[in-house]
Amino acid sequence: MRVNAKRWQDYFRDKRVWVTGASSGIGEALVEALGAAGVRTLASARRIERLEELTLKHASVSALPLDLAECERLGEAAAAAWEQLGGIDVLVNNAGISQRSTFVEADPETLERVIRIDLIGTMWLTHAVAARMKHRGSGHLVTVTSLAAMIPTPRRTAYAAAKAGLHGLFDAMRGELEPSGITISLAAPGFVRTEISTHAVTETGAEHGVLDPNQERGDDAAACAAEILSGAAKRKREFLVSMSPRLRLALLLRRHAPGLLWRILAKASVT
Ligand SMILES: NC(=O)c1ccc[n+]([C@@H]2O[C@H](COP(=O)([O-])OP(=O)(O)OC[C@H]3O[C@@H](n4cnc5c(N)ncnc54)[C@H](OP(=O)(O)O)[C@@H]3O)[C@@H](O)[C@H]2O)c1
Repeated sequence: MRVNAKRWQDYFRDKRVWVTGASSGIGEALVEALGAAGVRTLASARRIERLEELTLKHASVSALPLDLAECERLGEAAAAAWEQLGGIDVLVNNAGISQRSTFVEADPETLERVIRIDLIGTMWLTHAVAARMKHRGSGHLVTVTSLAAMIPTPRRTAYAAAKAGLHGLFDAMRGELEPSGITISLAAPGFVRTEISTHAVTETGAEHGVLDPNQERGDDAAACAAEILSGAAKRKREFLVSMSPRLRLALLLRRHAPGLLWRILAKASVT
C-alpha cells in the first residue's frame, strides 16, 4: 500500500512518542521515520548500543533501556519515559519475540516467556502509561500485534495466544478509555523482513538463529512502519499491514471455510 507521508507527519508533528522494540526491524523503522520527520521520539529496547545509533542520527530521538520481561520494573520505566519526554502522547507497543516450536515439545517456561514479553510485559507497561494518559484526558495507545492473532499457525501457539490476548486486552479497554480521550489502535502485520525469526525461541528457549523464508520474502520494514504510522494517524481502531494476496486468502478461509484452513495449515511446512 502506498502511504502519504505528509498525512501521518501532520498528525505526529507535535506529539511525544515512545516506541518499544526500537533496536531493530519495525520498531527501528518507526523511529527512523519519526526521527526524520523531527518528531520527539523515545526509543526503547534492551540493546542500548543500537538505540544510541538512532539518537546520533536524529536530534529528536532519545533512548531508554527497557526489558519487557522484567514486569515489576515497568512502572518505573514508564515513569522515567514520561519524565524524559515531558509527557507521552503516543505509546507504540511494538517490542516482541516469536516462537519456533511445537506445543508439546516446548518447555512450558519457554512458552511462558513468549507470553510474558509479548502480552504481560506490554500489559504492565500500558497500565502505567494509560493511567497517566487517563489522568491527563488524552493519549494514543498503538500496539503492533500480528496476523497470527487471526490465523494461528502451528509452531506459534504461545505467540498466537499472546497476540490474540493483546486484541482482547485493548478491545476491552476501549469502553473504559475511549470516553476519556484515549485512542486505541491495533496494527496487525503479515510478514515483514526483520530479525523476528532469528531471535525466536525454540523448544529449549535457545534462539532459532535463522531468517525464515516467510520473513525473507516479507515486506520491507520501512514500508510496514509507514503503514502503521498512517493507520495510527487516521486513528483506525484495528488494521492489517504488510498483507499479501496469500494472507488475504487465508483470512477469507478463516471466516468462510475454517475447516479447510485448519486442514491446509496441518499439512503446511511451517518452520
Ligand atoms: N516481522 C514479522 O514478520 C512480524 C509479523 C507480525 C508481527 N510482528 C511483530 O512486530 C513487532 C516487531 O518485531 P520485528 O519483526 O521488528 O522483529 P525484531 O527485528 O526482532 O524486533 C523486535 C524488537 O523487540 C525488542 N525486544 C525483544 N524482546 C524484548 C524484551 N524482553 N524487552 C524489550 N524489548 C524487547 C527487540 O529489542 P532487544 O532485543 O534489543 O531488546 C527488538 O527491538 C513484534 O511485536 C512482532 O511480533 C512481526
